[in-house]
Amino acid sequence: ADLDLQAVHDEMVSVAYEAGAMMLEANPQDIDTGTKLNSVDIVTETDQGVEKMVSTRLSSAFPSISFMGEETYKPGMRIGPEPTFVVDPIDGTTNFIHSFPNACISLGLAVDRTPTVGVIYNPWQDLLFTAIKGRGAFMTRIRGSAPRRLPLARNPAPLTGLGTALVAVEWGSNRDGPNFDVKTDTFRKLAASREAGGAMCHSLRSMGSAALNIAAVAAGQMDCYWEGGCWAWDVCAGWCVLAEAGGIMASGNPGDWEPELEGRVYLAVRGAPSGQKELVEEFWGVIGD
Ligand code: IPD
Repeated sequence: ADLDLQAVHDEMVSVAYEAGAMMLEANPQDIDTGTKLNSVDIVTETDQGVEKMVSTRLSSAFPSISFMGEETYKPGMRIGPEPTFVVDPIDGTTNFIHSFPNACISLGLAVDRTPTVGVIYNPWQDLLFTAIKGRGAFMTRIRGSAPRRLPLARNPAPLTGLGTALVAVEWGSNRDGPNFDVKTDTFRKLAASREAGGAMCHSLRSMGSAALNIAAVAAGQMDCYWEGGCWAWDVCAGWCVLAEAGGIMASGNPGDWEPELEGRVYLAVRGAPSGQKELVEEFWGVIGD
């Protein structure tokens, strides 16, 4: 039977609000914290508790839909063509433990490996982003108020290149060898003057949540977002919101557009009447591939 995407979306929104309440109730000072790949790849008991609640609720409401979550992922797992929830219970865990109010739950639904429903909720700002493929993207500030269609500007400005762009980038948790060199090199080239071979962007921002970065690009508050090292649960929900807001997700792994795993490079570019493809080309030109 065909999946009722609206029903799935509505349940995801309800789950996101419950997750938000769990995050607000948790006192980061009292939270048991552990690490995964290294000392800055942090997980808390709240990440695990939220994922448990999310998987329990979504699996009982939609038993036929597969589930993949950051905290229960095991190497070798893949997203198949069947409908799959792709979930990051707390995106921005580092912000969460430091009480920096920029973290969210990121709930995606992939169908045929394509982001098809996206729900992102930042409980500290009571800010909700939602989208269903083909039905537009929306932002609701303050629960119960009227959703606003994304992008927020009715007539978004054309993109005029990296020199006029506000660009989100992230450090992520992988700080080793070539991976770290790519990040620092990219940041340096984006910020450096033209004389120094850089793009001289208006500025760079690192707000600590991949999903909220993509949502900000979808809203038109950032021009683009680059990160090397994202996982499917970081991008699945945001990808749907972005695409429905007229933005594009360019992958640094050409030919591979699926929300797959294992630390990929992503470049999200906001919706604009012109200049998207040119910005992507300029980006790869400046940083090299
Ligand atoms: C991380 C955050 C961070 C980004 C990492 C993500 P987590 O997610 O989004 O900003 O740089 O790549 O993995 O670990 O907080 O769920």
